[in-house]
Amino acid sequence: MENTRVQLIRKLKNSGMQNKLVFVFLLASFLGYSQKKDNSKMPKIKPKEVFVAELMSKMTIEEKIYQTVQFTSDGTITGPKSGDNYISRIQQGKVGSVLNATGAKATREIQRINLENSRLKIPLLFGQDVIHGFKTIFPINLGMASSWDPKAVELAARIAATEASAAGVHWTFAPMVDISRDPRWGRVSEGSGEDSFLGIQMAVANVKGFQGDDLSKNNTILACTKHFAAYGAAEAGRDYNTVDMSERVLRETYLPAFKATVDAGVKTFMTSFNEISGVPSTANKFLIRDVLKGEWNFNGLVVTDYTGINEMVAHGFAADDKQAGELAMNAGVDIDMVGGIFMNNLKKSFEEGKVSLEQIDAACKRILDVKYDLGLFEDPYRYCDEKREQATTNKPEFLEASLEVAKKSLVLLKNNNHILPLNTNQKIAFVGPLVSDEFNIIGSWAALGDRNGFATSVKEGVANYLKNTANVTFDQGVEIKSNNRDGIQKALDNAKNADIIVAVMGEGENMSGEAGSQTNIDLPGLQKEFLSELKKLGKPIVLVVLNGRPLTLSWENENMDAILEAWWPGTRGGDAIAQTLFGANNPNGKLSMSFPRNVGQLPIYYNHKNTGRPYLGKSDPEQKYKSRYTDADNSPLYPFGFGLSYTTFEYSNLKLSSDKIKFDEKLKVSIELKNTGNYDGQEVVQLYIRDLVGSVTRPIRELKGFEKIEIKKGETKTVSFEISSEDLKFYNLDMKHTAEVGDFDVFVGGSSDADHQASFQLIK
Ligand code: NOJ
Repeated sequence: MENTRVQLIRKLKNSGMQNKLVFVFLLASFLGYSQKKDNSKMPKIKPKEVFVAELMSKMTIEEKIYQTVQFTSDGTITGPKSGDNYISRIQQGKVGSVLNATGAKATREIQRINLENSRLKIPLLFGQDVIHGFKTIFPINLGMASSWDPKAVELAARIAATEASAAGVHWTFAPMVDISRDPRWGRVSEGSGEDSFLGIQMAVANVKGFQGDDLSKNNTILACTKHFAAYGAAEAGRDYNTVDMSERVLRETYLPAFKATVDAGVKTFMTSFNEISGVPSTANKFLIRDVLKGEWNFNGLVVTDYTGINEMVAHGFAADDKQAGELAMNAGVDIDMVGGIFMNNLKKSFEEGKVSLEQIDAACKRILDVKYDLGLFEDPYRYCDEKREQATTNKPEFLEASLEVAKKSLVLLKNNNHILPLNTNQKIAFVGPLVSDEFNIIGSWAALGDRNGFATSVKEGVANYLKNTANVTFDQGVEIKSNNRDGIQKALDNAKNADIIVAVMGEGENMSGEAGSQTNIDLPGLQKEFLSELKKLGKPIVLVVLNGRPLTLSWENENMDAILEAWWPGTRGGDAIAQTLFGANNPNGKLSMSFPRNVGQLPIYYNHKNTGRPYLGKSDPEQKYKSRYTDADNSPLYPFGFGLSYTTFEYSNLKLSSDKIKFDEKLKVSIELKNTGNYDGQEVVQLYIRDLVGSVTRPIRELKGFEKIEIKKGETKTVSFEISSEDLKFYNLDMKHTAEVGDFDVFVGGSSDADHQASFQLIK
């Protein structure tokens, strides 16, 4: 029998809800945080400072240590775990929080066991990775960042929190704000790409969406900024690998998104697995105590990533587990995620004077504070309501929002001769290993998202859109990654009879994400070979790519007529792709990460330095002894910020309000933008600056502003930005965060290659 969710999604697909209106309604109703808090049944408790202090005065040293212990349930496991049966530990009242326990019923039961056995009845915290949706899955985060639409990202997080909280979850381990410039690293899928400025907007949107405006409401959850820090800079893109970087680069590129979430009120932080310049993050006093808890005044809690404490032995930073625990606690870690080290060693370390009571108290207080903020001392079962869970999961409006966000995340990379949008009267051969896929389409790290039988495949999306599929065929042809050629001939036969071919190809969801690093980021398996067979048919080909990272698509760029980057677009991904291919959605995403021409260019990013021998390209009179490759261009295949539309935009009239500003003044930058094509469309207008001379060298461009606007065909709009000396700050030679007088260039346009340029000076 068809399950109810499948019935629901069928109904939805046929309901023809009007996209834009629905999206605006969703934004208004969810981001207004209109939900009411039901205070009527809550016992009144004392203010936090008093309550927590009184509670701690009754706690033994062991009870304080138990608060720092996190066990994993039997849910998603992403590494070794400490072996113990967590229920029996909870029965002994020895656990402070649980990872991966979800479901209103299950969490209620675990909480009951805990409360009945914990002497002081301290509620457990339940944590779960809710990365790009809980049940209703949104595009992977790299895709959502390509929407350049923080409100859409906030909405996705709000919906994820609403679903997760109804299933007993108090705490998500998101957002991941790691900047990465190397798509060999599989976890680029979980972040917002290569740029700090864009990363900050996405990070803050996530925190707002998850935590809302009041954590004690039963539909808001703790966010957790991770992985602190610089995990995305792993050498050679190999997961968990070493990071070595200057403090300047760390502060300027890798830390700003972390800091922005602290300013936005994030309540928890997670350390990263990597070492930075010889010191593992899990025991990095500089990062945790000095920067995070000191300079930034973060008053929430810090959890390790998984067995991060234990791993310091393998790093060669601690002689044994006990010492590793001491190093972590002394550096400012508050919770040991599943490692069992605080549980097994901290008391002894305390007795030996290696860890002070003050430090254990500080960790315990931060944990209890967060439990208080969630309202768990008032009602430990507030998140465990089965009726709410049933009523809240996969609601029609959530699924509709997942479609709308997916449509904002798709990026059109090529569209020769306006071959897209497709014409419904054409005979179309849909081919490729992902054409009917309902599994991979929701992407990696969609831990509890429903896949087969629930998510929409491209095939289903096309059928939903066309209603009549007499003119279209669907053939897989090849598998994602295998040597099986059996399906190729039939696919070619169908393609032969078509007017146009749409190839839906890409990665398997498990090829990116954690532990998904790769040295080869071409289309895997026989997919490219299959494309070249299709090419021989002489028909136009549209390539739709589903993937968790930028791929190397140089050959495809040469040989395909159109390319649509779809990432892993989530539960309604197939509908989003179909509606875009047929023109019901005009693509409006822009890349959140550069696409390399080949892996030899990695790492690659738009805001690099100029070098002493910059290469000016093919027209450079000097081709030798320049900072260049001799066998490939320096430029990426598709730059950061790039993305086409079915319409065209013409930029003109870039104006600055002055050619000089003082430190306390603002510069207004404006530009006109005309929709010169045949469709209404949306454009992300981007503003970059270049600081020409500094006490330390500056990048050739830095994103400092963007605005996504809608423009009807034929219409012209003016977009304005403001720049002040705040935007021009960097870590100077003395590591002072300041702006320096001098000349600046401004560039405005539709990508990081923006070519409308003006100049101004910053003066005293
Ligand atoms: C390891 C991952 O690195 C981290 O991002 C995740 O939150 C934890 N496992 C818990 O699942």
